[in-house]
Amino acid sequence: MRNFDYMTPTRLIFGEGVIAKLPEVMKPFGKKILMTYGGGSIKRIGLYDKVKELLSDFEIYELADIQPNPKYDPSVLDGVRMCKENDIDVILSVGGGSVLDCSKAIATGAKYDGDPWDLISYKAFATDSVPIVDIITLAATGSEYDCGGVISRTETNDKIGYMDPHNFPVVSFLDPVYTFTVPKNQTAAGCADAMNHIMEQYFCEDSTILNDGFMEAGLKSLMINTVKCIENPEDYTARAEMMLTCTYGCNGIFSLGNSPTGWPCHGIEHALSAYYDITHGVGLAIITPRWMKHILNEKTLPRFVKYGVNVFGIDASLPEMEIAEKAIDATYKFFESIDIPMHLKEVGIDESRIVEMANHIAVNEHLDRAYAPLSEADLVEILTASL
Ligand code: NZQ
Ligand code: ZN
Repeated sequence: MRNFDYMTPTRLIFGEGVIAKLPEVMKPFGKKILMTYGGGSIKRIGLYDKVKELLSDFEIYELADIQPNPKYDPSVLDGVRMCKENDIDVILSVGGGSVLDCSKAIATGAKYDGDPWDLISYKAFATDSVPIVDIITLAATGSEYDCGGVISRTETNDKIGYMDPHNFPVVSFLDPVYTFTVPKNQTAAGCADAMNHIMEQYFCEDSTILNDGFMEAGLKSLMINTVKCIENPEDYTARAEMMLTCTYGCNGIFSLGNSPTGWPCHGIEHALSAYYDITHGVGLAIITPRWMKHILNEKTLPRFVKYGVNVFGIDASLPEMEIAEKAIDATYKFFESIDIPMHLKEVGIDESRIVEMANHIAVNEHLDRAYAPLSEADLVEILTASL
């Protein structure tokens, strides 16, 4: 077990109706709020009006239309400009992970004199940020409980996971009722994203009984509860447990003391979303079973056996390689069962830019250092197998 120095300074306020606490939470920051949101879902579900009513004593500036796979230009740049022009005291992010990730880049960019992309691309590091409060409306990314934000720059085909301790939200509101309206495809994509967050940590050199148990339970919780949420979108218990399991996804709590893994499937998927703007969780669902097949060998076999027996209940008396192959097949079949398209061609991606994407990933994601090292040739193979 490795040493670690871990802190998640975010306060989670969880449950039905907790938004009533919003005014008292916002008050200590000051009067001027930049409210960030997406394409309109918060208006359709009544959350926009509720927030405006609760915060009627505050001065609210609005940055709307933040797109999925949030764009550096215009959204981050517009938000930074609005914060600087209006001397904003706090950012209130209302929506899914795309809105919150964009808000994180705005928060540090607003306190930086140079080009905010310097911070996102790690050419410079934040020394300060505008505080962030969020109301998360989609269970998926775990952005509400981590210091990461994934920002796309379409003109250079970049999609970078921007991690900085200044990016932790101060307070995150998680009310499962606001996820009742998440459509089936987004519920499924959110599940695939959160499951992959756990798998990126589970497939590692060495883990512990504690962490494996935590992660195996997280995977089972996500699969069971996602099916329930799809069957009955207003199943509060299922939405609540799915939401909290997603929240744990990216903040490291699942793998404290474990060896690093390099998060290979995310490194590959970020290129797919950067080049083709596809839904992140869908990209991960397509890539993961192919990545598994590609890295299965004598060294990784024990992890696949543990995964197959403890997550999918595969008969432990079978030959180990057979257990591993059944586990990979079960992973693919689960994603297929929740109607996620399982081929790149189904989401508009063909072989024309595979070599270019593989090179982009090899140059930017350093997957030659991953738990199962991947060369550019490996990446071409995995992407081709995913077509
Ligand atoms: O834009 P609006 O109108 O709000 O609609 C959104 C959007 O179209 C809709 N939606 C959100 N909440 C809803 C709802 N529709 C109905 N009812 C609700 N309650 O859902 C669509 C997708 O929203 P989005 O925010 O894009 O989804 P998600 O939360 O999955 O975020 C995806 C982004 O997060 C990044 C991904 O790369 C992607 O850019 N990630 C962030 C991570 C992090 N910060 O830790 C880690 C992840 O690995 C991931 O990379
Ligand atoms: Zn993810």
